[in-house]
Amino acid sequence: MKEKIILEKLPEHVAIIMDGNGRWAKKRGAFRVFGHQHGVTAVKETVEAATEIGIKFLTLYAFSTENWLRPKEEVDALMELLVRSINNETETLIKNNIRLIAIGDIESLHKNCYDELMNTINITANNTRMTLVLALSYSSKWEITQAVKKIAEKIKNNIIDVNDINQELISNSLNTKDIPDPSLLIRTSGEYRISNFLLWQMAYTELYFTPVLWPDFRKNDFYSAIIDYQKRERRFGMTSEQI
Ligand code: IPE
Ligand code: IPE
Ligand code: MG
Repeated sequence: MKEKIILEKLPEHVAIIMDGNGRWAKKRGAFRVFGHQHGVTAVKETVEAATEIGIKFLTLYAFSTENWLRPKEEVDALMELLVRSINNETETLIKNNIRLIAIGDIESLHKNCYDELMNTINITANNTRMTLVLALSYSSKWEITQAVKKIAEKIKNNIIDVNDINQELISNSLNTKDIPDPSLLIRTSGEYRISNFLLWQMAYTELYFTPVLWPDFRKNDFYSAIIDYQKRERRFGMTSEQI
């Protein structure tokens, strides 16, 4: 698979909705948490796959604002798993020159999870090979609401004028202000929806859906998505002839 990828035509930013952990566990007669635990292997494989070919930004949707509505035991288990995974992977991130950042309402995470996350974010802040973005307690409507408040506040305090509002200002008021918009979105588990993820940023993103459940997702599945992306023509409203 890897050999079929055109390295000059890589998507700059790949975003992934990692879905299907619960169903993967159910198929095995196990608790949902078992699926989340196996999802960690898929995360490692995907980060490695992206790093190997030279992807610059990889965003993983790990926990949504709406996921707080799940049973408390599942939320607790996910927070614990996050703490453990971030802790276990910090060495690898440093070794591979990967910078970790987060988007979302991260202060709402459990305290030990927040601390572990901030620690790794700080340690890897100067790494340059790839930026790994974790979307945690994230939802697009939350993010856009925050942005609107920030802008309104600036107008109220006479820092800017209503006429200063443009697309650039809005983009720069989002959590993703230093991250290019995703070129490619991958969603696993055969669900065809966006689930409140990067709505503003995905205005022109190429979408790729696969039936593979997240815990089964491996390097070749990632590379298949990249190959599919490379066959597409991104016109941005123009005609084929213009581009
Ligand atoms: C994705 O798998 C992981 C998170 C949302 C945290 P799910 O837990 O949504 O798995 P399904 O969709 O129930 O199979
Ligand atoms: C989306 O998956 C959120 C994450 C992958 C973190 P969900 O499984 O929560 O999405 P819905 O609610 O089924 O759309
Ligand atoms: Mg799901």
